[in-house]
Amino acid sequence: MNYDEIMKLALERGFYFPSCEIYPDMPAGFWEYGPNGVSLKNKYVELWRRELVRRDGMLEIDGSQIMSKSVFEASGHLASFADPIVKCTKCNSIYRADKLIAEVSNVIVPESADLEEFDKVIAERKILCQKCKGALGKAYKFNMMFGVGIGPEATPAYLRPETCQSIFVDFPRVFKVMRGKLPVGIAQIGKSFRNEISPRQSLIRMREFYQAEIEVFCNPAKLNEISNFGEVENVELNIMLDGEFQPKRISCKAAVESGAVPNKLVAYYLGLLVDFYSKTGIDVKKSRFRKLGAKEKAFYASVAFDFEVETSLGWLELVACNYRSDYDLSSHAKLSKANFEVMDNDQKVLPHIFELSMGIDRSIYTMLDHNIIDDKPNERVYLSLKPYLAPVQLGILPLMKKDGLQEKAESIFAPLRTKYDVFFDSAGAIGRRYRRLDEIGAPLAITVDYQTLKDETVTLRKRDKMDQERIKISEIEAHLSKELQYP
Ligand code: ATP
Ligand code: GLY
Repeated sequence: MNYDEIMKLALERGFYFPSCEIYPDMPAGFWEYGPNGVSLKNKYVELWRRELVRRDGMLEIDGSQIMSKSVFEASGHLASFADPIVKCTKCNSIYRADKLIAEVSNVIVPESADLEEFDKVIAERKILCQKCKGALGKAYKFNMMFGVGIGPEATPAYLRPETCQSIFVDFPRVFKVMRGKLPVGIAQIGKSFRNEISPRQSLIRMREFYQAEIEVFCNPAKLNEISNFGEVENVELNIMLDGEFQPKRISCKAAVESGAVPNKLVAYYLGLLVDFYSKTGIDVKKSRFRKLGAKEKAFYASVAFDFEVETSLGWLELVACNYRSDYDLSSHAKLSKANFEVMDNDQKVLPHIFELSMGIDRSIYTMLDHNIIDDKPNERVYLSLKPYLAPVQLGILPLMKKDGLQEKAESIFAPLRTKYDVFFDSAGAIGRRYRRLDEIGAPLAITVDYQTLKDETVTLRKRDKMDQERIKISEIEAHLSKELQYP
C-alpha cells in the first residue's frame, strides 16, 4: 500500500488527522491522534515499557516540556540546533538545503556540512525554487527551537527539542533517591518540539511529536562488562558502515568483535532494539543500522547509528542511537555547578551516556505501513497488527437489532468493556461491520445470532484468515486472553 492509501485509512478510521483542521490558519506539522490512534499508541508504549524499560530495570521519569534557557545554553542547542536553509529570492519560499538538494539532484550533502558546500551544489546543479523557478539565495542556519516567554516579563524559555534534557538535568537526584547503580537507564516518553522548515508526510516530519527516549548512564571504563550481553549476542543486526551502500547481516557478538559496533554496551542495546521492533510487527528484515559519518552526526554524538526501516516512502529513521560520551553531563556540570559524578563501587566517575532516541509517531506510521494488507480476493483491506497492539481487541456484533439479539449482545459486552478494548457495533450489514473491524486490525469478532438465544454460543471470527468457529459465551474471555498474549 502506498502513502496515500495509508493516509486515507488513518483519516477514515480515526487513527490520526490534522490539528485544528476546521481553521485555515493552523500551520502545517501538527497532528492529532483519534481514538484508534491513541489506543494503538498506548499499546506501543506499553510494549516499549515491557521490552526495554522493565526488562532492564530502567527508571522512568516525566519531565517538563518547557525548560529554561540555561538548559539549552549548556546542551549546545542554542548555538548548534540549526538546520541549513535556503530562500527563494523571488517568491520567498524556504527549503531545507540538504533535503532540497537530495530530492532534486540525488546528491547527499550532510546537514552539518559547511554552508558554502550547499551553495556550491545548488550552483553546480542549477537548483531553482521548486515553486516559481526563481533563483535561490545563499544558505543560512535557522535555529529550530520554539522560544516561549514566561510570565508578564516574558522570561525566555524553550519548548524542549528532545525529551532527554530533563533526564540529564534530573540525573543527580534520580540516581541518588533511586539508589542507582551504573550502568542505569533512565527513560522518558513525551512530546518534543521542533520548528521544522518543511513539515510533511503527516507523522513523518512534525513540529510537535512524541519521543520515547532511553539514556543509559555508564562507566566509560566498563563498556565491555555487560552482564546480560549473552541474551542478545546472537541477535542479528543489519549494519551499514559509513561509506557503504549495502548493510551486512551480523550478530551482536560478531559486530563487537569486528569493530563494526564500538563495544558490548552499544551492541547490547542495538540488539534489544531489534528484538523490540520485531515484536511491534514491523518487518525487521527491512531495517538497518546506518553508521553516521562525522558530518552527519548530531553535535553531541561521538558515535551514532540511525535505526532505519524501509517503508513505502523509502528508508525512514525511527531511532537515533547516539553515544553522547560525557558531553551532556560535563556541560550541565560546568554551567550549573551541580555535581554529576557518582560512585561506581569505589571509583568516582562522571558517567558517559548512550541513548536510544525513538520517534513514536514514525514508528506508528511504519507499523501501519508494514501491516496494511490489500486482501483483493476477499475485497477487503485489513491491518495485520499483532493482537496485543490492536486498538480494538474484540468486536461484538448482533446479527440483527431486533428479536432480543441487541440486548443479548449488550449483556455480553457489559462485563468485557472495562477489561478489554471492545467495540460494539450494530449498525449496517454484517459484512460491512466485519470490514470496519478488519481495517482497524481487531483480531477477534463475535456475532450474536438466533442460535445464541437457544444455546448460549456465539460465532468467533478471526481477522487474518476470516475463519469462524462456534464457542460458548463463557469461553470468550479465555479466547481473548490467549489471543492477546505477548510473545
Ligand atoms: P531527520 O534527519 O529525519 O530530521 P533527526 O536526525 O533530526 O531526524 P533525531 O534528532 O535523531 O532526528 O531525533 C530522534 C528521533 O526522533 C528520530 O529518529 C525520529 O524518529 C524522531 N523525530 C525527529 N524529528 C522528528 C519530526 N520532525 N517528526 C517526527 N519525528 C521526529
Ligand atoms: N535525543 C536525541 C534526539 O532527539 O535527537
